[in-house]
Amino acid sequence: MKVLIVGSGGREHAIASSVAKSDKVDKIYCAPGNAGIGMIAECVPIGAMEFDKLVAFAKEKEIDLTIVGMDDPLVGGLIDELEAAGLRAFGPRKNAAILEGSKAFSKDLMKKYNIPTAAYENFTDADEAIAYLEQADFPIVLKADGLALGKGVLICQNLEEAKEGVKSIMLDKQFGSAGNTLVIEEFMTGREVSVLSYVDGKTIKTMTSAQDHKRAGDGDTGLNTGGMGTFSPSPFYTKEVDEFCQKYIYQPTVDAMAAEGREFKGIIFFGLMLTEKGPKVLEYNARFGDPEAQVVLPRMKNDIIEVLEACIDGTLDEVDLQFEDNAAVCVVLASDGYPVKYEKGFVIEGLDKFEGQDSYFCFHAGTKKTEEGIVTNGGRVLGITAKGADLKQARANAYAATKWVTFENKYMRNDIGKAIDEA
Ligand code: AMP
Ligand code: GLY
Repeated sequence: MKVLIVGSGGREHAIASSVAKSDKVDKIYCAPGNAGIGMIAECVPIGAMEFDKLVAFAKEKEIDLTIVGMDDPLVGGLIDELEAAGLRAFGPRKNAAILEGSKAFSKDLMKKYNIPTAAYENFTDADEAIAYLEQADFPIVLKADGLALGKGVLICQNLEEAKEGVKSIMLDKQFGSAGNTLVIEEFMTGREVSVLSYVDGKTIKTMTSAQDHKRAGDGDTGLNTGGMGTFSPSPFYTKEVDEFCQKYIYQPTVDAMAAEGREFKGIIFFGLMLTEKGPKVLEYNARFGDPEAQVVLPRMKNDIIEVLEACIDGTLDEVDLQFEDNAAVCVVLASDGYPVKYEKGFVIEGLDKFEGQDSYFCFHAGTKKTEEGIVTNGGRVLGITAKGADLKQARANAYAATKWVTFENKYMRNDIGKAIDEA
């Protein structure tokens, strides 16, 4: 079959690598893709938000399955448009992708269906938000309702910071219309865990757990980024935690969406916080996490196409989802200065060392093929993933492999997965 993947980051490279392993697949296209994806797929210069062009391309090439990896096109309704043209597509429709697209929606859903999450209020008026903050306890969390490239969350230590936050989100529109509604949420403490799951509308099957490192600097210092590295599984995600979440969070979320007439088919990513009072939902995403996908997918034993098709067909209950009994660590190689200001266009050396490896992966994020070779083309450049018998071994392997590649201004965190050694 012919598969089209929509997106251009490390996540899409990880998806493409899994798709390439399927016996069912003869040809992979990726729109727009990147230099790494281009080694296993044909990249086509169509942007992820160019719906008409994507639909026309999928029709012309008789694509059997389109996999949409990114949040923006999912929230914008790309799946609906593909389906309207008679094409098969993996991902939630627009009315279900709202689970990620509107934090106010997802908070109201959790409240209505008693799914554990932080206490909150939604506001559309800045004065009302400030009046509420004047009575509130600190720290407190402000969240822009809509998609904001993962940057729409502000943790405010005092009233002054919070007022500043309300101004930048609601009045100055730092995140555009994503800030028309503001969620003000109770601050929680605890370990964070990401759990990705396949959902077919009724059945949910969770994948192995993972943990992201969002801050730019070692020891969780510096600015928030799209993710500087991940490990899987999380040792803090115990059997007891899993049992609780299966019963009170995962299936109830799928059932709640169905009850609202918003049947969810695709990936639900549960951002969880393990608080003293039990696991609570920090956020939902309607897609694979990035870089979580880069440690979870390499450990999946199933043929990904079979699982994705089962989600579309509503037969996920028949799938025996299995993961390897090992661990994986992904260290992101970024351009120095990310997430603020950085240079691009430096030649990357050493990429060939990953060829023919099956426990080491070099997932491309911001890269571009030029006449001089493959060059850096973004803040996050590569995700270096390695497997190992356990997390310690996987971590040692991943850091060893980070040395195989060099480029000017290469920057990485040196403590991805380190907390687990100390746990
Ligand atoms: P989100 O985009 O909702 O995952 O938020 C980004 C990050 O902000 C999370 O990964 C947490 O580290 C932090 N965060 C979000 N909500 C809360 C909360 N209610 N309490 C504490 N930290 C939070
Ligand atoms: N790693 C977090 C995300 O994909 O949103």
